[in-house]
Amino acid sequence: MAVIFRPFGRWAWSTSLPTLALLSMVSCGSGSGGSAENVVNSLSLDALLTSQLIQAGLDGDPIDGRIIPEITEPLAELGKRLFFTKSLSGDFDAACASCHHPRLAGGDAMALPIGTDAVDPDLLGPLRAHHSAAEDYDGGPTVPRNSPTTFNVALWDESLFWDGRVQNLESGIATPDSSSSGTADPLAGNTLAAAQARFPVTNEEEMRGFTFEYGLNNTAVRDHLAARLGNFGVGAGEITEDWVSLFRTAFEEPTMPVQDLITFENVVAAIGAYEDSQVFVDTPWKQYVEGNQNAISNAAKRGALLFLREPNEGGAACDRCHSGDFFTDGDYHLTAFPQIGRGKGVPNLIGDMDADYGRSMFVGGMIERFSFRTPALINVTETGPWGHAGSFSDLETLLRYHVDPVSGFANFNLAALPAGMQTAGFVQNTGEVVDQLLLKRGAGTSRLPANLSLSDRDYADLIAFLESLTDPRILDPNFLEDWIARNDAGFTDSQLLLAHDGQGEVY
Ligand code: HEC
Ligand code: HEC
Repeated sequence: MAVIFRPFGRWAWSTSLPTLALLSMVSCGSGSGGSAENVVNSLSLDALLTSQLIQAGLDGDPIDGRIIPEITEPLAELGKRLFFTKSLSGDFDAACASCHHPRLAGGDAMALPIGTDAVDPDLLGPLRAHHSAAEDYDGGPTVPRNSPTTFNVALWDESLFWDGRVQNLESGIATPDSSSSGTADPLAGNTLAAAQARFPVTNEEEMRGFTFEYGLNNTAVRDHLAARLGNFGVGAGEITEDWVSLFRTAFEEPTMPVQDLITFENVVAAIGAYEDSQVFVDTPWKQYVEGNQNAISNAAKRGALLFLREPNEGGAACDRCHSGDFFTDGDYHLTAFPQIGRGKGVPNLIGDMDADYGRSMFVGGMIERFSFRTPALINVTETGPWGHAGSFSDLETLLRYHVDPVSGFANFNLAALPAGMQTAGFVQNTGEVVDQLLLKRGAGTSRLPANLSLSDRDYADLIAFLESLTDPRILDPNFLEDWIARNDAGFTDSQLLLAHDGQGEVY
């Protein structure tokens, strides 16, 4: 465990501190700010923040003793090749990396994703388009929720997905295949990442396509894909590559019959190990908490104070939900972010089927309707567009909405969204969500602070703080290369995703 830096020991007046407003006035001064004054401000900021860190129980290290697989382990290396192969999609036109590419911070740089039937399956990012002659074309994205990053997936303990529908239970892992949300799925595997990887391949819009194993269940889809990789049974002869020796090495099974070796359970175990190796948390913030006072700017320090403090202490209380060193409580909250896109096929009050009930899609009932899992904030500056429906492409706009959703909704600028985005249901759907927030506020069950008033400087400080949560290594293509599958002497995959941005940049 990391040692917390305590420049002055515990700050004795931590509960009756000068307001942040005062502090900001002092530290920005009137332009005359001499270096002596800056040193004093920096020192007092450090002292204030140190006491706040102790109070919040932060040590800067979100890994907290977890064992993280190395990307060089054969199982993770196999998982990397599987993550990048279009052979796991029904029609050979999408890979996991289509929506979760390391060069795009583990996401797809799109508000909402396009999976199968892209015009150019290897084109990733904002220029990716859906084929106009393909099934379900409506001019816009085909998947209803934003692709979250796969970076740091190993650090989620409670659940995966925006609504947490892959969830750790004492008895195992619940998934959409479970008989109920409180029941473990016997085939879920050992980790959340492996359990999650069972689902994209069964979704028509993400990877399955519209004809593959048509009318059959998830098991048929997965078994077929495993048989394809192993070149046996229903999948025999569909591809030319020989995956068998990679599986033999990864699972240390030199003689096991191929049908027992290349199972979908083993496919997702490997993909899960690859994803779990993507832990990138060496942030300036971590260095700061571990004692390097110069690792972050004064603006970031002021932002951190705002983030951690309650409103009656001059703060914005972000850590009511974005708590701990991974900046999430793993819980579900209603924040009334804009509802755009196709939605999850559930009705709003006027009967249109483009609403998204969030967490209650999985657990039922009204209590968690429109609630989504609190995102972790490590690397957040790189994972936009943001929000469960990707409705923000700019962090300041997001934060202003987040702090005041009622006026955020009233002033939301649909014109800033990418062309083709389905927005016809925006007013109805988001209006219903905002009403639900107001009901919760009336009942005292919302954790979202009401009536916060933040200055322009406060927003800039919060963003400076969020910037300090990005691991600079994820901006370095050389560093990321270890997590990108390439055809090489070890293995050549004719279905490898050769990602590019459509403007000459090859990933
Ligand atoms: C078409 C785009 C697309 C493809 C292809 C895709 N995903 Fe995703 N992924 C998403 C979206 C969208 C979500 C969020 C869905 C939700 O929460 O309801 C998601 C969620 C996830 C999550 C959960 C992250 C979290 O923080 O909860 C993981 C892990 C993940 N995907 C891994 C994979 C793997 C492994 C594959 C390949 C087997 C894959 N994805 C293929 C779009 C995609
Ligand atoms: C009541 C709990 C709660 C509070 C308080 C809260 N957040 Fe959030 N935050 C969430 C949830 C839930 C989401 C996802 C909402 C969605 O996508 O529908 C979110 C989304 C975000 C996002 C977008 C992340 C992404 O990956 O899409 C950022 C950035 C963020 N919050 C920062 C903050 C900051 C800064 C504060 C304080 C000013 C704050 N939050 C206060 C719960 C909260």
